[in-house]
Amino acid sequence: MGKDDAILNQFKEDQSSDSHVDTGKRMRVGIIGTGWIADAHIKSYLKMPDVDIVAGADLIPGKAEKFFEKWGVENVKCYKNHKEMLDDSSLKLDAVSVCTYNCQHAEPTIYALNKGVHVLLEKPMCVTTQEAVDIVRAEKASGKVLSIGFQPRFDANMKKIKEIVQSGVLGKVYYIQTGGGRRRGIPTPFGTTFIEKETGGIGALGDIGCYSLDMVLNAVGYPRPLTVSGYKSDFFGVRESYYPKHPEYAKKFGVDDFAAAFVRLEGDIILDFRIAWAMNMDTPGDTIILGTEGGLRIPSTECWNGTVGGPMKIYHEVAGMQVETEIPIIKPKDNAPSLFDMKIRSFLDACKNGTPAPVPSSQIIYNQAIIDGITKSSELGKEIQIEIPQI
Ligand SMILES: NC(=O)c1ccc[n+]([C@@H]2O[C@H](COP(=O)([O-])OP(=O)(O)OC[C@H]3O[C@@H](n4cnc5c(N)ncnc54)[C@H](O)[C@@H]3O)[C@@H](O)[C@H]2O)c1
Repeated sequence: MGKDDAILNQFKEDQSSDSHVDTGKRMRVGIIGTGWIADAHIKSYLKMPDVDIVAGADLIPGKAEKFFEKWGVENVKCYKNHKEMLDDSSLKLDAVSVCTYNCQHAEPTIYALNKGVHVLLEKPMCVTTQEAVDIVRAEKASGKVLSIGFQPRFDANMKKIKEIVQSGVLGKVYYIQTGGGRRRGIPTPFGTTFIEKETGGIGALGDIGCYSLDMVLNAVGYPRPLTVSGYKSDFFGVRESYYPKHPEYAKKFGVDDFAAAFVRLEGDIILDFRIAWAMNMDTPGDTIILGTEGGLRIPSTECWNGTVGGPMKIYHEVAGMQVETEIPIIKPKDNAPSLFDMKIRSFLDACKNGTPAPVPSSQIIYNQAIIDGITKSSELGKEIQIEIPQI
């Protein structure tokens, strides 16, 4: 490299990585629930030079053993539930990933925290507000790290939404329309744990609704939710014709496949929300954030999964003219870690360095309270106050 290049390169974007990993300090990790998403967790853990995967648990006999065999991970102890695993003090676990279905999020998380083990908990945080409160109480009492598995948070485009709002270019934000949907996208390719009341607990509302709520609430600083008028339905999930290969799934369907809500947030912000696993429409609309000085449009995606669907646009006024500024999509650099790798790495770093959880429960409890509020309001058929007990 010539002298001139060196000078000019100072103005280039910093390409260096600050992901130095202290391999002298290793983490003993266990995985609770070895189903679909556990694959993504182990794939990322296996890339981490400071992690020893030492244990796994699954309620289905032999499932954890097969899981580790598939991933070629040896010398791992397998257990038939989270309790057996966490009760085995010989494991000396530092951290666990809780990869169980929604109705089994709270119990293993609280049990692990009570045992002094750090927890990376999959999204949604849980099913009810009370469970979320119990989780946060256990987290506080333990002093351990609890991070919730929202990997879209690590997407540069998602971060940009927050930067735009926080920059003040939109002025005071007063109205947010968010959500997303799929025309036909009830998640049953791996069985029925998402659609049964006893395992999933909540449907589209929790599964993908939590992402769209996080996208906007994180951008505006997670204001406390105050009231909600919510609606839920299940018109598609309960139809046998929806599942030509598995008509029996229709009878098992016990959650929502569509939800909508009107939520009042602290700071005089209105949140207009809708989410669908299935509907007769391609999308229920883009996400829009309206402020006194500008409006931000975040395009939806076809198969909604909590990502930015295309270049965003800011609608604003410049010297008396109504103009739009396009915010191009930020593509990851070659060899950049995946969003999942970043979720796992940031969790491990917080555990090792005693730094705050990358996706803290203090925020996600509001996400959960909205989800639970929508359920309760829908059941009552009227607007309700969102109550979050003192922690
Ligand atoms: N972050 C993401 O992108 C993403 C994607 C898919 C799923 N998820 C979340 O991950 C969670 C799991 O989803 P999944 O698709 O892997 O479900 P799954 O049904 O495939 O796997 C869950 C597994 O947990 C086991 N289990 C339940 N309770 C247990 C307990 N107490 N102890 C031990 N094992 C237990 C079940 O037997 C099952 O094998 C859900 O909450 C879902 O929302 C997140």
